[in-house]
Amino acid sequence: MKREDAIRESKELLKEERVSGFDHVSRVAYWCRYMGEKEGADLDALEIAAFLHDIGLNRVGLKTHHTESAAMAGNLLREKNVPEERIKQICRIIERHAMHAPEAERIEEKIINDADRIDHMGAIGIVRAIARSILVKKDYTGDVADVPQLLRDAVTNTKKRVYTDTAIRIVDEKASYVEDFIAQLEKELSETENSLSKK
Ligand SMILES: [Fe+2]
Ligand SMILES: [Fe+2]
Repeated sequence: MKREDAIRESKELLKEERVSGFDHVSRVAYWCRYMGEKEGADLDALEIAAFLHDIGLNRVGLKTHHTESAAMAGNLLREKNVPEERIKQICRIIERHAMHAPEAERIEEKIINDADRIDHMGAIGIVRAIARSILVKKDYTGDVADVPQLLRDAVTNTKKRVYTDTAIRIVDEKASYVEDFIAQLEKELSETENSLSKK
């Protein structure tokens, strides 16, 4: 399967997805390439896995999407007559990308985790965390005062599973921006709280 095929399939299968859509997988593919070059990983396998890693989301939801995405990718790769060994390798990368998936062992498996985590932090991560809470988890109360905790949880969870030194550095930097955002948000919230209590 060529890169262009993976992109086409990914665009089609993720067109309904609103938090981990094609924009997300494209950024994951970017970070996979970025880290994969540094780490001497198999870039072709990594990039195909990156574009296909979330294609099962709409079918089965967050909890089991990593195995579903791997199964769907396996079928697509088989249709393109990709050798079985290669299919296994790519599916394993996809299967292990999620927070709750089995531990990553090979470098490509570690990198896809790291790339996915990077997209959970920084300004992009803030937008996605809030969107996820509204659109997917549907647990957003609508009260802005609940957002600092939501973002704190995102920082804690993201940092739980980052493998490479490069990604640890990028995630830390982006997490510190999220912390600054939380501080500003809490400052603004306390300003208006004070004005209410003065009345
Ligand atoms: Fe995922
Ligand atoms: Fe993802």
